[in-house]
Amino acid sequence: MSSALDPSVRTVGDRRPALRVRAFAPGRVNLIGEHTDYTGGLALPMAVHLGTTIEGRRGRRAGHGTVDLGSTAEPMPARIKLPVERPERAEPVWARYVAGVLATLDAPLGLQGTVTTTLPVGAGLSSSASLELAVALAAGFEGTRRELALAGQHAEQLASGVPCGLMDQTAVACGLAGHALRMDFTDGSVLPVDVPEEAAIVVVDSGQPRRLADSGYATRRAECEQAAEVLGPLRTVHPNELTALADPRIRARARHVVTENERVDAFVAAMTAGDLRAAGAVMNESHTSLRNDFEVSTPTLDDLVEGLRRHAGVHGARLTGAGFGGCVVALTEPDALADIGWHVRPSEGATLEVLDDR
Ligand code: GLA
Repeated sequence: MSSALDPSVRTVGDRRPALRVRAFAPGRVNLIGEHTDYTGGLALPMAVHLGTTIEGRRGRRAGHGTVDLGSTAEPMPARIKLPVERPERAEPVWARYVAGVLATLDAPLGLQGTVTTTLPVGAGLSSSASLELAVALAAGFEGTRRELALAGQHAEQLASGVPCGLMDQTAVACGLAGHALRMDFTDGSVLPVDVPEEAAIVVVDSGQPRRLADSGYATRRAECEQAAEVLGPLRTVHPNELTALADPRIRARARHVVTENERVDAFVAAMTAGDLRAAGAVMNESHTSLRNDFEVSTPTLDDLVEGLRRHAGVHGARLTGAGFGGCVVALTEPDALADIGWHVRPSEGATLEVLDDR
């Protein structure tokens, strides 16, 4: 892999104090490879052109003072005293994600500023990962993109209590214009996959809040761990070996993960060959597996997926993200869903600009 994209080499950030800064972090959509990241599996998300911007002035002393952020998307500001204690208790709720980041960073800088976002909040485009990485860069994170993603993941776990994987934050940290990112959560590699011009990626919100997401997510993760205790790392398991799992529910969960890893590479091969119909068919199979084997779909998501697939020029559609509500992603011809959803473009990852040094 070229070091230009290697997240353990590529760096970001600038921690000089008392500077005016602008941090931007995109959202993400996952094209395929769902509920695989926390099993050491494969995923193919991309950073999108919508995201979170924080503009503000830093304090002079690291680890002290306050972080005071207003948000155009929230009625109440996030005011956090450094050093942070109990980030999970911060109020209002969005301040927990800010506090989670500040609790995770080594000696964050104080900060006064404003958060603006072009992302729909809480709709499945990882507005929380986007906020976390923007806060980290604004508050003085400096390091590799992998470290930035890990800081965001830790913050997310602290703030939400959900044992999430590393996909969202890696996509936000490592995004590359024009490309999706093939992530391997066993060896940590991130490889760019060209998204052809004629491939439109459309995200549609089901409007169903992800109510069961927290408890359901933790249960699924625990079920995958149970399967791995019997079979070894799911990444290395062949579908034929799944019969060793006696419990039909655990077997179905593992079958989803094992076949989903195969679908990621089938999707990459189809995209690389420019065969968008084949790529769409693989997305449809992913949805079926998430519905039947992993049981994270809902009737609302199933209906939305079915409805989108009926439009001419839609190659495939599936739920994206954790499931239990939230969003659907469709791969389409450029104008197939012209008036529906968000038409997202694969975009660059998180960045920090220093605006002046006064
Ligand atoms: C959420 C988590 C990710 C990943 C997806 C499911 O978005 O934050 O780590 O597990 O669900 O693929």
